[in-house]
Amino acid sequence: MEKKIGNIVADEIYAKIKRQISSQSLDPSSVKLAVVQVGNDQASNIYIKFKRRACEKLGFGFSLFKLEDKCTTEEVLKIIDSINTDKNITGCIVQLPVPLHVDKYKILNAVNPLKDVDCFHIDNISRLYFGYESSRFIPATVFGIYYLMKHCNVETKGKTCVIIGKSNIVGKPLQMLLSDELDMACTTIHCDKYTENLFELTRLADIIIIAAGVHHLINSPDVIKENATIIDVGIHRVKVGDKFRVQGDVNYEALKDKCKLITPVPGGVGPVTVAGLMHNLMTANKLQSNQ
Ligand code: GUN
Repeated sequence: MEKKIGNIVADEIYAKIKRQISSQSLDPSSVKLAVVQVGNDQASNIYIKFKRRACEKLGFGFSLFKLEDKCTTEEVLKIIDSINTDKNITGCIVQLPVPLHVDKYKILNAVNPLKDVDCFHIDNISRLYFGYESSRFIPATVFGIYYLMKHCNVETKGKTCVIIGKSNIVGKPLQMLLSDELDMACTTIHCDKYTENLFELTRLADIIIIAAGVHHLINSPDVIKENATIIDVGIHRVKVGDKFRVQGDVNYEALKDKCKLITPVPGGVGPVTVAGLMHNLMTANKLQSNQ
């Protein structure tokens, strides 16, 4: 079976990391990711498995701190504090979602900013406002999309890019990065679930990046421009006939012939996101060794 674009680009990111490991004469086992999970969300279990596998593939260390669903914000803070001071841990992420009674922002902002490989700490995410060059980290999904677009030579300067979704993790940082005049220089239109006449806007778009969380929201070739680039961040487990399949926010099969580039689900944004996290882990290692 032909390798999918997300896997091809992820492999390129891994190859680059391996070259860095070798040129820095780095012992990869000295680079370690800690994942804090509160509760037992099934999707989180799968995402964590992919992160563990990526660490193993590169020879990085990995530790999972799994806390019970009913644990308090203070208990989570205690674990984060111990990770922050552990010299053997390079990067720390708190897998989301956390239960509602846990103060999400308090715990995300408790992570040592130099270990914040998700880029969820306010000190890190706010740097993106000033562009890629001013940033410490880029959120992994956004880094993956950025890298994929560069790899595929997607023309961005002056192009109309419709972003659908305004999450703190994907939509907002993507908008900042893509609209940066000194870099991608897209003309961005940022849409959400309240956007009126969404499909009139998607018809104008040279690039559509969709993280709407709505299965097959874009379902017909009639709502896109000829030769559009579509990047699908959605991930849904749906029943097709008598089988379960993973699909995105876009109906890939219905649209692929009209697109210059369209990322599939699976095999698109997912693999580059995990590779982006590994890239961030290398950045964290460098930041800490410069201290
Ligand atoms: N849950 C869904 N996506 C993410 C992510 O990128 N990082 C973390 N920590 N949790 C998530």
